Amino acid sequence: YLNYRVPRTRKEIFETLIKGLQRLEYRGYDSAGVAIDGNNNEDKERFIKLVKKRGKVKALEEELYKQDDLDSKAEFETHFGIAHTRWATHGVPSAINSHPQRSDKRNEFVVIHNGIITNYKDLRKFLESKGYEFESETDTETIPKLIKYMYDNRESEDTSFSALVERVIQQLEGAFALVFKSIHYPGEAVATRRGSPLLIGVRSKYKLSTEQIPVLYRTCNIENVKNICNSRMKRLDSSTCLHAVGDKAVEFFFASDASAIIEHTNRVIFLEDDDIAAVTDGKLSIHRLERSASDDPSRAIQTLQMELQQIMKGNFSAFMQKEIFEQPESVVNTMRGRVNFESSTVLLGGLKDHLKEIRRCRRLIIIGCGTSYHAAVATRQVLEELTELPVMVELASDFLDRNTPVFRDDVCFFISQSGETADTLMALRYCKERRALTVGITNTVGSSISRETDCGVHINAGPEIGVASTKAYTSQFVSLVMFGLMMSEDRISLQKRRQEIISGLKSLPEMIKEVLSLDEKIHDLALELYKQRSLLVMGRGYNYATCLEGALKIKEITYMHSEGILAGELKHGPLALIDKQMPVIMVIMKDPCFTKCQNALQQVTARQGRPIILCSKEDTESSKFAYKTIELPHTVDCLQGVLSVIPLQLLSFHLAVLRGYDVDFPRNLAKSVTVE
Ligand code: F6R
Repeated sequence: YLNYRVPRTRKEIFETLIKGLQRLEYRGYDSAGVAIDGNNNEDKERFIKLVKKRGKVKALEEELYKQDDLDSKAEFETHFGIAHTRWATHGVPSAINSHPQRSDKRNEFVVIHNGIITNYKDLRKFLESKGYEFESETDTETIPKLIKYMYDNRESEDTSFSALVERVIQQLEGAFALVFKSIHYPGEAVATRRGSPLLIGVRSKYKLSTEQIPVLYRTCNIENVKNICNSRMKRLDSSTCLHAVGDKAVEFFFASDASAIIEHTNRVIFLEDDDIAAVTDGKLSIHRLERSASDDPSRAIQTLQMELQQIMKGNFSAFMQKEIFEQPESVVNTMRGRVNFESSTVLLGGLKDHLKEIRRCRRLIIIGCGTSYHAAVATRQVLEELTELPVMVELASDFLDRNTPVFRDDVCFFISQSGETADTLMALRYCKERRALTVGITNTVGSSISRETDCGVHINAGPEIGVASTKAYTSQFVSLVMFGLMMSEDRISLQKRRQEIISGLKSLPEMIKEVLSLDEKIHDLALELYKQRSLLVMGRGYNYATCLEGALKIKEITYMHSEGILAGELKHGPLALIDKQMPVIMVIMKDPCFTKCQNALQQVTARQGRPIILCSKEDTESSKFAYKTIELPHTVDCLQGVLSVIPLQLLSFHLAVLRGYDVDFPRNLAKSVTVE
């Protein structure tokens, strides 16, 4: 938040930042922090005050009130403060790991970051070799240190803040939205993004100089190059900036989401990847290294018409729906920096030191509850194939009830979105006592399961708010497949298969988008089904887990009875349920079980069943017998389950809405089940 010629007291500045954080808390909430200017009246030396706290934003607010004289009448003509609420990806939730991260003990540069820097280890090594000492476990800390390095090695006293940021982002790989603050550039703000969202809100009582900010390119002409790289932004021609006409009062709000700022202004500029936005003396300018992909030569100020609640959920009516639609991005985040599509290699940093031990083990035991258990069922076959090890898949509660024998040469995986599920945690402790190697696969850094396991993988799906798990399932699925690929890297006989799976992973995000485009068709199907009492979901092989998971989604949010049935078991009992009234969804994909699934289809239609078939686009055989079909893009057999589960996630969502239930908070259920 930056105010220019709008005198604000310390208290108002804090409140603006804290309120903004509270609005963003739904995106992450394990720790929070703020950086504001120190009170220069008493102390002539400029300094930035950093306050960080583990826990919710409320805890940070209390800490601020404890530490700062908020009632002081000191007013700031121009002040730039930054704040952040964190959902850990690297390093446990703690004050030291929370943002802003800093360059040094004097806080010369401080940075807040959303996203993941994938080459942070190389950067850290480089900076350590230059004598920088790191204090946190985060990937983010490399950024303030890198900008300080650029500052200390700048070629001219005149180098602008944005020129430094430009150099920094040229070194970064991964995804980021960044906002920088520095004691060397007081009252100046620089922000940039690549792959993570970032917008700028503008508020002024006065007319603004423009509604379109022209974007400057490094290559546009020699004068601009000089301007951008060698001088302060204030030397820029005022036609390249946005400001309040006549240098009047203006306030800027930088945020990853409009919900943080909507109560101050609905006038916003959405930045594009690699845009660098800088505010100097109340003037906002935008430049970039290269022309943008869209080639748009300017960024327009847009007026948002949305309500606050709507913005938090985007255009979606529930978090669950939003999370279903986030899956093209969340699976990319799971793979980012881990799958190298060029060299066809996979590296899971958290497991690499234990790989030898895992390869030597007696068996893999994968343990979880509910949806997390289903992710294990979904990947068991491909893990057996790629690791050439026996794989047991266990429900945590049952595993404990049986006192299952576990040995020190077993490797036990614990799959958990929250990382706090009591049954899974107890199973983990049980396996640790028996000295097995324990591996966590969680979506929550710093959770009990991620702390107590010997090693692990963070699935990076982003916070999941809806009680019914959706994007965590597909990210768990992809994480387990990546593990199989890493294990089989030097198996010559498996190279062709690995190649096929890695290509499948590459096209997964596009295919997920294609499946999501079926939403309307699935809504129409829900209109036909929502008054039913029961819904069966049947399949086998790689898609059996889809049936279990689809049925779980349906029962937990629609309160309809639903069962996932293994098609091979049909004639051993469930066939008795089939008649022309009972709705049956069959998942039939072009994979090694195709012919067997056709047999099950015949058995259903012979009893007047009217199957709704989820099938491959090119499958003309199944559709002949279908009451309805939902056609999905075809991918490699072991990844098909990532696609086939999505229509069932969507169906359960639409059924629940049509039946009038609260999708995000189903009765009797909690997001994190911390009791046995
Ligand atoms: C279903 C669902 C639950 C969880 C289960 C385990 O939509 O969310 O079945 O999967 O309670 O939770 P985690 O993965 O947090 O251990």
